[in-house]
Amino acid sequence: MRIGLAGAGRIGARHAATLYEMPEVESLLIADADPCRAHHLAARLAARCAEVGVRDDAGAPEVVAVEAVEKVYAADLDGLVVAAATCAHAELVDRAMLEGVPVFCEKPLAADLDGTFQIVAAAEAAGVPVQVGFQRRFDAGNMAAREALASGRLGWLHTVRSCSFDPAPPPAGYIPASGGLFRDCVIHDLDLVRFVTGRDVVRVMASGSNRGDDFIREYGDVDTGSALLVLDDGTLGLVSATRYNAAGYDARLELFGSKDSVVAGLDERTPVTALPEPGAGPRGAYGGFMERFSDAYDAELRAFVDMAAGRRASPCPPEEAMEAFYLAEACERSLREGRIVGIEEVRR
Ligand SMILES: NC(=O)c1ccc[n+]([C@@H]2O[C@H](COP(=O)([O-])OP(=O)(O)OC[C@H]3O[C@@H](n4cnc5c(N)ncnc54)[C@H](O)[C@@H]3O)[C@@H](O)[C@H]2O)c1
Repeated sequence: MRIGLAGAGRIGARHAATLYEMPEVESLLIADADPCRAHHLAARLAARCAEVGVRDDAGAPEVVAVEAVEKVYAADLDGLVVAAATCAHAELVDRAMLEGVPVFCEKPLAADLDGTFQIVAAAEAAGVPVQVGFQRRFDAGNMAAREALASGRLGWLHTVRSCSFDPAPPPAGYIPASGGLFRDCVIHDLDLVRFVTGRDVVRVMASGSNRGDDFIREYGDVDTGSALLVLDDGTLGLVSATRYNAAGYDARLELFGSKDSVVAGLDERTPVTALPEPGAGPRGAYGGFMERFSDAYDAELRAFVDMAAGRRASPCPPEEAMEAFYLAEACERSLREGRIVGIEEVRR
């Protein structure tokens, strides 16, 4: 298969490494708004640098850096992976759909509600398969938690909690284009709550704080945020995120049911210390999302290649991403206005 990659930054490099390892991928075309980045990534792959690809020479795909993003569309692609900056997603996805090319797009599909709504409508009209990059759906623990709930083993759910605690803030330049903590980060937890419970959220009450560096506040964002969710069957949810969890990266899902409770993401690398034994702290705490979700990133792209080859439907179609975006939007509104926000208020 001939796969294009638009965006050769942090996550683009991670996805390139996965694609490089896949036997189905015969050719990988890399593009970036900054052609140097595309060339650099292609060179790292071709050199089979230790941190990216290790596939042996005999089966390694052809890797080509293209000078302009436009050129990937002329390459008769079997699929396109969009890992560019958020502001570029909608245009890149739209163009791929016009060309009839199946797309994997990193979350979020677009930077704002209107843009997301338009791209979801366009995807429905185009009928081209689109997968949005909510990799937590592919995490083994999260999938097992979903199955445990569906099996009835947990009884009825009274509480679901999901957190995204980053060890340190991203570079200051990332914040103004991020869309804010709820659209950028908590959106993963919001999607996961819907995916694991199979329920919709009807209203949210969010709050946030700024106790860290000033630059996040100065951009009008919060460095820590939580939202209480009310699901349509009465289950309560709590989603929370911070940019300041120096103990390590903590992404955990907890399901508390009338019969039993389970947690996904709790292992010896989870950055919490059980007290009163001070020696019972984590061993080699997760440093970031790349480590915590390494297997999930691989699995979501394997699913994408299967989808692009026509072997499966999208595991995270645009309308699911739309629902997660509605929830994030409702949380942002609740945060700004200090009140409970019903999802119907933001739904188009
Ligand atoms: N699913 C996840 O866990 C996860 C993790 C990190 C980032 N992301 C998402 O991935 C996207 C990229 O994040 P990142 O951290 O890799 O950012 P980054 O800044 O490291 O990389 C973005 C790259 O996109 C390029 N770019 C910008 N406009 C472009 C265009 N029109 N065409 C091609 N390339 C373009 C930039 O030059 C840059 O190289 C964001 O939307 C982010 O929300 C998702």
